[in-house]
Amino acid sequence: MAELTDRTASLWMDTTADAPIHPPLTADATVDVAVVGGGILGITTALLCAQAGASVAVLEMDVVAGGVTGHTTAKVTPLHGSSYSELRAKHDAQVARAYASGNLAAMERVARLVESLGIDADLRRRPAMTYVTDPDELTTIQREAEAAREAGLAVRLVTESELPYPIVAGVRIEEQVELNSRKYVLGLAEALVAAGGTIHEQTRATGLSERGGPRVHTAGGASVRANDVVVATLMPFLDRGLFFARLTPNRSYCIAARAPRIPEVMAISADQPTRSVRAALGRDGEELLIVGGEGHATGEEADTRRRYAALETFAREAFGATEITHHWSAHDLQPADGLPYIGRYTPFSRHVWTAAGFRKWGMTNATMAAEILSARIGDRDHPLASAFDSNRLDPVQAAPGVAKEIAKDARHFVVDHTVHRDGPTCTHLGCRLRWNTAEDSWDCPCHGSRFAADGAVLTGPATKPLDLG
Ligand SMILES: Cc1cc2nc3c(=O)[nH]c(=O)nc-3n(C[C@H](O)[C@H](O)[C@H](O)COP(=O)(O)OP(=O)(O)OC[C@H]3O[C@@H](n4cnc5c(N)ncnc54)[C@H](O)[C@@H]3O)c2cc1C
Ligand code: FES
Repeated sequence: MAELTDRTASLWMDTTADAPIHPPLTADATVDVAVVGGGILGITTALLCAQAGASVAVLEMDVVAGGVTGHTTAKVTPLHGSSYSELRAKHDAQVARAYASGNLAAMERVARLVESLGIDADLRRRPAMTYVTDPDELTTIQREAEAAREAGLAVRLVTESELPYPIVAGVRIEEQVELNSRKYVLGLAEALVAAGGTIHEQTRATGLSERGGPRVHTAGGASVRANDVVVATLMPFLDRGLFFARLTPNRSYCIAARAPRIPEVMAISADQPTRSVRAALGRDGEELLIVGGEGHATGEEADTRRRYAALETFAREAFGATEITHHWSAHDLQPADGLPYIGRYTPFSRHVWTAAGFRKWGMTNATMAAEILSARIGDRDHPLASAFDSNRLDPVQAAPGVAKEIAKDARHFVVDHTVHRDGPTCTHLGCRLRWNTAEDSWDCPCHGSRFAADGAVLTGPATKPLDLG
C-alpha cells in the first residue's frame, strides 16, 4: 500500500469550509425547540421546526455536519444493501413497507429541499444497485429484489451494470440521488438561520434536566430552556432510555481516488467483502471515485491502516485508480431489531425526543426521523411514527441484539481491565480504550466514544475529555 496521504479529512470536509461559522453559546437562552447535535438529523429537524413557526437553537460540540454526516458516502436512496430481506427475516411485510415508503419520501424531501432552497450540493440523479459477483450468492439478490418489490420499491433484477467488472446479479432502482452531504447540510443550516433559528458551534451539551421544563446544560456554563429538546447526537448522550444496550457502533472506511473508470451507478456489494462505490466531485469539479467498506465493530481493532490498504487495492484493481486523494472513516449505529429508533427519549419523556440507529443509511433514515420528530413536536400525527417508535417493546426481534450488546460491554468492562491494562479509561461509563493506528485516536469498544491523542472528545456519547495526566 502507498503511504496514506496526510489528508485524513473526508472529501466532503475538504470541499467545504472547515472553521466554525456560528458563535458558541455564551449566555442562557429560551426557545421553543433546542436541538443537541448539528448533523443531518439535528439540522433537518431544526429547519422543519423553524419552518413550522418555532423558535429553534442548535447546540453543536464541534462544527455543523462535521460528525458522521461529514464522513459518510452520501448516497441518498431507499435501496439499502440487502435491508429488505433482512427486515423481512425479523418483521412483517407492513414494517418493510413503512421503511421503504419513509425512506423513499425522505429521498424526495432531500431533492426538494436542495431545489427549493437553491443549495449547491452537487446533487445528481443516478441509479442505485445492490449486487453480487459470487455465483453462490445469486439467491441473496433474488431474495432482496423480491423483498424490495414487496415493500413497494420499483426495483429490477439485472445481470449487467455500468461497473467495470462483471456482476452475477444486481437489484437496481433508477433516478436515485447522490450529493455532497456537507454542502447539503450547510445549505440547510443557512436556511435555518434565515428562518430565524440560531446555531451554536463549539458548544457541548453536558446534561439535561427535565424538572420544571427541559433545560440543556453546556460545558461553558450557559444553558438553554426549551419546550421541547431533540437529542440528535448520533448515540444519545444521556444515560437514559437503554440506548447503549440497543445500539451497536460499527465503523467503516472510505477513500476517494483519481481513476480512469468512474462508475455512473451508486453500487454496493451484498457479498463479502462489502464494497460501496460511487462518483463524486472534487474541489475543482474533478470526477473522483469513492470506495467504502471494511466495516467492523468500533474500538475492536488495533491495526486499522490495513482497512484503507484493502480499499486501495480494490480501487486500483477494479477501477484503475492512480492516486488516493482522501481517506476517512466513521461509525454509525446498528439497532437491535434492524429498525431506527425515532420518538420520545424514554417512555416517561413528554418533551424530550431522539432518533438513532440509522444502519449506515442515515441520509434518508435521519431525514425521515426529522419529519416524524418535527410533526410530533408540533402536535401533528405522522403515519410512520408508530412503526419506528423509540420505546417499542419487541423482545423477540430485539432480544438477540440486546443480549449480544450487553455481553460485549460486559466483556470489555471485565476482561479488558484485566488484559489491556495500559489503555486509558473511557469517561462515559469506564470501558478500557483501544488505540486506533489509522486515525490516531483512542476508541471505546462499548458505545463508540472516541478521543484525540490529547484526550479531547472526538465522538460521543462521552462528554468529558480524558484525564491523561
Ligand atoms: C462510512 C459511512 C458511510 C455511510 N454512507 C452512507 C450512505 O451512503 N448513505 C446513507 O444514507 N447513509 C450513510 N451513512 C450513514 C449516515 O452518514 C449517518 O447515518 C448520518 O450521517 C448520521 O447523522 P446524525 O445527524 O445522526 O449524526 P452526526 O452527523 O454524527 O451528527 C451528530 C452531531 O452531534 C454532535 N454531538 C455529539 N455529542 C454532542 C454533545 N454532547 N453536545 C453537542 N453536540 C454533540 C456531533 O459533533 C455531531 O456533529 C454512512 C455512515 C458511515 C459511517
Ligand atoms: S462509550 Fe460508553 S463506556 Fe465508552
